[in-house]
Amino acid sequence: MTICQIEFATPEYDEAVNLRMEVLRRPLGLIYTPEQLAAEWDNLHLAAFDNSGRIVGYLNLTPENDTIVKMRQVAVAPSEQGKGVGTALVEDAEIRAVQLNFKEITLHARKTAVPFYLKLCYELLGNEFEEVNLPHFKMRKSTNF
Ligand SMILES: CC(C)(COP(=O)(O)OP(=O)(O)OC[C@H]1O[C@@H](n2cnc3c(N)ncnc32)[C@H](O)[C@@H]1OP(=O)(O)O)[C@@H](O)C(=O)NCCC(=O)NCCS
Repeated sequence: MTICQIEFATPEYDEAVNLRMEVLRRPLGLIYTPEQLAAEWDNLHLAAFDNSGRIVGYLNLTPENDTIVKMRQVAVAPSEQGKGVGTALVEDAEIRAVQLNFKEITLHARKTAVPFYLKLCYELLGNEFEEVNLPHFKMRKSTNF
């Protein structure tokens, strides 16, 4: 498996959106609107490729301000979950966040994914809230590892 940055509005980006649809949206009966995707033009997009070149994981980093970057849309193909792909993506993103001088990574974790982020040393912030009709928690990690 290889983690690479991919560019907005490329075949790789479209493949990643399809994966996100399958993992994060279709099970909830939701889609991405053209406006939501258009807003991602300046996000940092990371994809995990398997040995045959298929995208099996994705996440993006969206700056909130000069010091805080938000990790969004973390998704691993169902057949590849539990094999370390998500961990590899998050760790790669953390290195990039440090290189880009961000001091903190924040995210909105689905309640079901909270144990995954706790293992990666993210801490819970505040109370449960609802997003895409699912319970979520805000989590954070300092890049001063
Ligand atoms: C959550 C997700 C990104 C994790 O990626 P992954 O590649 O499956 O995770 P990894 O194989 O790197 O797992 C790392 C550790 O977290 C644990 N873990 C992963 N997902 C978990 C979950 N949902 N609940 C509890 N533990 C979980 C693994 O068991 C593993 O623990 P171990 O090191 O003791 O074996 C992935 O399962 C996924 O896409 N799930 C569906 C979409 C989703 O919930 N995305 C996150 C939105 S916030």
